[in-house]
Amino acid sequence: MFKILEANELTTNIFQMVVEAPRVADACLPGQFLIIRVDEEGERIPLTICDYDREKGTVEIVVQAIGAETYKLSALKAGDSLADVVGPLGKPSDLCEESIDELKKKKIVFIAGGVGTAPVYPQAKWLKEQGVDCDVIIGAKTKDLVILEDRFKKVCNLHITTDDGSYGRSGMVTKALQDLWDEGNKYDHCVAIGPMIMMKFVCKLTQELGIPTIVSMNPIMVDGTGMCGACRLTVDGQVKFACVDGPEFDGHKVDFDQAMNRMKLYKTEEGRLLLKAKEGDTHHGGCGNCN
Ligand code: NAD
Ligand code: FES
Repeated sequence: MFKILEANELTTNIFQMVVEAPRVADACLPGQFLIIRVDEEGERIPLTICDYDREKGTVEIVVQAIGAETYKLSALKAGDSLADVVGPLGKPSDLCEESIDELKKKKIVFIAGGVGTAPVYPQAKWLKEQGVDCDVIIGAKTKDLVILEDRFKKVCNLHITTDDGSYGRSGMVTKALQDLWDEGNKYDHCVAIGPMIMMKFVCKLTQELGIPTIVSMNPIMVDGTGMCGACRLTVDGQVKFACVDGPEFDGHKVDFDQAMNRMKLYKTEEGRLLLKAKEGDTHHGGCGNCN
């Protein structure tokens, strides 16, 4: 069992938890994710890591209560325990592989949309620890939905934008990025994490501006094991699985329309049957019973 040490509602329906998981905390890097099960009968929930503390042996997650399982998770309090915390899974962010000298030469911008703000935090914090500056644009529908602002301020140059203009700049993240670019911020590298539609339009803009862009395809994951086939996507014409080959990919090579359409279909039994008829068994092949 994994003890919950802290549990707070950050804003409406978005919850933050610090969980005791020393082995995961010891090994994880920014960009990786965990699979959580609330209890023995619970479904697997893949969640990107929001922060970790190796000394205290803790990991932090942020979850939006959108389904039965995430609702059950969000109702837990400090002192309760989770049945499983498995990880770290997936590949760490590409930034962790680059030489620090090369990173210092780059002007890096993160685009963090809504709940996707949480997985951006460990990347910005990691860069700060390496002495690398970065800009972060947080986009939220309205002021009350901006999360982790104070923590971001300590690790990056923060720009906030709200769709309704109630806080920071006004408009979506794409407008903020275009404005910052026009104000002279010529970025060399972009990481966009948020809703699929946001990542699609950020990539469209960064392609026009010539900024290489990484996206996190966490939103299409279901079981996070390579078995369910939900997170199948096409990257540069090749079939990939977000949970095994990602979650981060070159955003300019991702077929977003196909991924969003698949995500919609995967939500219904009828849609899953259609996908199976069209694609055959879609899982990654890690089961040992197939090629
Ligand atoms: P949201 O709908 O409030 O959007 C957040 C911001 O994204 C908006 O404020 C806007 O600036 C930008 N955005 C939205 N649509 C856009 C468009 N068409 N063009 C340009 N920018 C646009 O976000 P939310 O409700 O907090 O997000 C929930 C989603 O985030 C869920 O679907 C979840 O799967 C996803 N998410 C993604 C990740 C990831 O790793 N990619 C992680 C956590 C959550
Ligand atoms: Fe099921 Fe990737 S989430 S195969």
